[in-house]
Amino acid sequence: MKILLTGCSGQVGWELARTLLPLGDVIAANRSEADLSDPDGLRRTVQKLNPDVIVNPAAYTAVDKAETDRDLAFLVNAEAPRVLAEEAAKKSALLVHYSTDYVFDGTKNAPSTEDDVTHPVNVYGQSKLAGEQAIQATGADHLILRTSWVYAARGQNFLKTILRLAAEREELNIVADQIGSPTWARLIAETTAHILRQILLERQQDVFNSGIYNLTSAGETSWHGFAQGIVEIARQQGVQPLKNRVINPIPTTAYPVPAKRPLNSRLSTERLEQHFDLKMPSWDSALRLCMEEMV
Ligand SMILES: NC(=O)c1ccc[n+]([C@@H]2O[C@H](COP(=O)([O-])OP(=O)(O)OC[C@H]3O[C@@H](n4cnc5c(N)ncnc54)[C@H](OP(=O)(O)O)[C@@H]3O)[C@@H](O)[C@H]2O)c1
Repeated sequence: MKILLTGCSGQVGWELARTLLPLGDVIAANRSEADLSDPDGLRRTVQKLNPDVIVNPAAYTAVDKAETDRDLAFLVNAEAPRVLAEEAAKKSALLVHYSTDYVFDGTKNAPSTEDDVTHPVNVYGQSKLAGEQAIQATGADHLILRTSWVYAARGQNFLKTILRLAAEREELNIVADQIGSPTWARLIAETTAHILRQILLERQQDVFNSGIYNLTSAGETSWHGFAQGIVEIARQQGVQPLKNRVINPIPTTAYPVPAKRPLNSRLSTERLEQHFDLKMPSWDSALRLCMEEMV
């Protein structure tokens, strides 16, 4: 089985390049090998490689920049997934795609389920929702995995930023009224591999149904709680000298950024856990495991 993986240098893509290995021949493509801002070139690449499965973690993920870079965000997050899905449909291949809690406006007072009404509040969320809808419209066999608050030992993310700031500053102010579940890229990649095994069997048996699944860690916290967890673990590890003494909780309104964020980023993983017989680990246990690799 041939698996085309896009965005292999990203947080999730880098992990997938490892966890997908036992499933088949993985063609791990970076931006220059599969450019999602060039739909025609992307189409030719897929046709040439002729994969059985396309796994697409590549995305325009600069949430604030997307507010003023709408065309590129939509090209990469909506048009390119449409092309991948169209090519998958032609060959009866499977497309595994990633999306986000930012397809919701975050006003629900509970974790969002896959069937809740979408209503993105920023351009990034709009472009990711357009990608989901474009894939669905092609009729290709697909799996859309919505995740949230992704971090990893590599790449640019909140974990790395907090570790840097905690080494530099005694006092940090972190938003405390946005809640979600920080999710380790490794967990997303391991879970994808597990799911994929089952899906491939379901397709062989002709019982596969395309659909959306939420894929996050269990439990919830705020960005403030996430930062506290990071600094606490770093302090216990005792490897890095930390200047930080206090992390102040602040409201979203005190930290203005170009893109509006949903206050509630929580996603229910019940459908995923039931269908694939999984139990998602708590966000803080996964964070500890990730940070163990960083020392
Ligand atoms: N990060 C989060 O907090 C978060 C939250 C919810 C959902 N998600 C979704 O989860 C998935 C994985 O996110 P991530 O955190 O792994 O993202 P990431 O670390 O920002 O990586 C994005 C990847 O996409 C690639 N990329 C960007 N533009 C491209 C283009 N024009 N052509 C080809 N590749 C391109 C990047 O390549 P370069 O390395 O060359 O830039 C990088 O490999 C995405 O679908 C994202 O929307 C992420």
